Amino acid sequence: MCGIIGIASNKSVSMNIINSLKKLEYRGYDSAGIATLTNNTINEKKCSGRVEELEKILFKNPSEGNVGIGHVRWATHGIPNTLNAHPHSSEKVSVVHNGIIENSDELKKTLEEKGFKFKSETDTEVITLLVTESLKKSDPLESVFKTLKKLKGSFALGIIFKNHTDIIIGARRGSPLAVGYSKEENYLGSDSYALKSMTNKISYLDDGEICVLSKSEISFFDANQNKINKKIHIVSDDENTADKGDYKNFMSKEIFEQPNTAKKCVSEYIDSLKKDINIYNFPITPGEIEKIILIGCGTAYHSCLVAKYWFEELTSIEVEIDIASEFRYRNLKFSTKNLYIFVSQSGETADTAAALEICKKNKVKTCSVVNVVESTIARNSDWVLPIHAGPEIGVASTKAFLGQLIVLYILCLKLSSVRNDIDKKSYNINIENLKKLPDAIAKTLKSEGDIQIMAQEFLKARGSMFLGRGSSFPIALEGALKLKELSYLHAEGYPAGEMKHGPLALIEEGLPVIVIAPKDKYFEKTLSNTQEVIARGGKIFFITDIKKRLLSTNIRLRLRVPHLDNFLSPILLTIPLQLLAYHVALLKSCDIDKPRNLAKSVTVE
Ligand code: G6P
Repeated sequence: MCGIIGIASNKSVSMNIINSLKKLEYRGYDSAGIATLTNNTINEKKCSGRVEELEKILFKNPSEGNVGIGHVRWATHGIPNTLNAHPHSSEKVSVVHNGIIENSDELKKTLEEKGFKFKSETDTEVITLLVTESLKKSDPLESVFKTLKKLKGSFALGIIFKNHTDIIIGARRGSPLAVGYSKEENYLGSDSYALKSMTNKISYLDDGEICVLSKSEISFFDANQNKINKKIHIVSDDENTADKGDYKNFMSKEIFEQPNTAKKCVSEYIDSLKKDINIYNFPITPGEIEKIILIGCGTAYHSCLVAKYWFEELTSIEVEIDIASEFRYRNLKFSTKNLYIFVSQSGETADTAAALEICKKNKVKTCSVVNVVESTIARNSDWVLPIHAGPEIGVASTKAFLGQLIVLYILCLKLSSVRNDIDKKSYNINIENLKKLPDAIAKTLKSEGDIQIMAQEFLKARGSMFLGRGSSFPIALEGALKLKELSYLHAEGYPAGEMKHGPLALIEEGLPVIVIAPKDKYFEKTLSNTQEVIARGGKIFFITDIKKRLLSTNIRLRLRVPHLDNFLSPILLTIPLQLLAYHVALLKSCDIDKPRNLAKSVTVE
């Protein structure tokens, strides 16, 4: 992960670097650093902890310089302390790095044998010292090319040079890197989001490419050192994301934005006049698709899991799902009759991007469901279905999950219609229900008061369990993941029917068990599973969409969400679980937007 920023300007850059680093903290936040160039000196300042700490250091002791690089770190090699924070500087160069150098141990050994001394435990420092060594005989660009040839692994780099005070060199292999253009300054950034407050003109480096930027010019080179031209993208100017408004944190803002997220997404895809779904240009003729394979990581994987139930129920297409980090290493049989769908909020997740790359190599058709339309995954796929959720800042995904579900459901409905798997009447009813979704989400959010009470009961718990069957099973997984991410409380998500095959052993007096039980074909079965838990002392929190009061005794709390139809239930049932995780974390005073050890955009394997 990690975030990189670089600015070459005609004025002092340190404060703009700090402001951009604050925007990049969603990529990593265990340490931060900056290096600027003045009077042929590299001014390096770094600290463990947040960018705020770095800002305090600069406030006391400002860093001058019109060229500089900055970094926020998510530790891979070496603990998150000041020494391991980036930049890593020698007397000649300073480097910020995102990614992992897989042969760093070997390279370190060779450099040590030549007398180089290492200050940190990071893999990055080998890059600093390799460039430093090359500079004895070569100019900066040549030195970087020579260094890159020795590196195995993935990286995005920003490098400044003590004796070349006007340039920054950027390089990309595997980890995303963008440049931004402005009148009197140019920028380097690990994504366009960090650059958006300064410019909307962006170019993206492809793997193997290098850029050299000064305040007035940006040059690009391919891996063979040939000069190349890059397309300039004008990036969309989404709503103002830096503002939490009256909310305590971004996560609560994003949870409560969901009626709007749904409204925007539904209105982008539903043509109310024609009563149809606006999805065209399928990369494979819909009637010829034999199998759909849905791939994602974390929360995005859970949306794939829910979609599997929808595709199976509504279409005649076979469906498979996979976690990207597994998919990329399996010995798969690819088929041009299959559609490979990649789900990713950021569009930058390394495993998902690598899985997509494998599909491209095998010449199969790919689709991406992304929030960031300028992202690597969106740019590399044949077909993009944006979720239109607007930037999501809280590390734990909420509104993007909702957007992913809506888009996957809409895609499923459209495919069922164009393949004649669904009759016209049911198709129309499903579309009408979708239009009611934003209001139903707004009503569901009103359960917050009950959930605050429920959250109290989790404070002393040693763990918790989330159960569901059918499409409520992935929602149970997502509920458990949210609670783990935010409150650091152990939580297990399980298919309710699987309890008796092991997890029932974990049930003890007072263990909180959340049962997700909409009125679907599994309802009675889930009730029986709930009884098995009650009989062993589990404290049940029952989340349903049925009106009738069932099992009134032995249930600690029963929460009802609105009912539209069985397909939309998983979307509505997710909301109380987001709120639960949020309130437990709030009661435990956890850092809600930046949970420990996590990052929003996981750009390393
Ligand atoms: C990280 C985030 C999760 C997210 C996952 C996949 O682990 O913390 O919230 O679900 O990455 O991210 P993506 O951007 O690909 O959806």
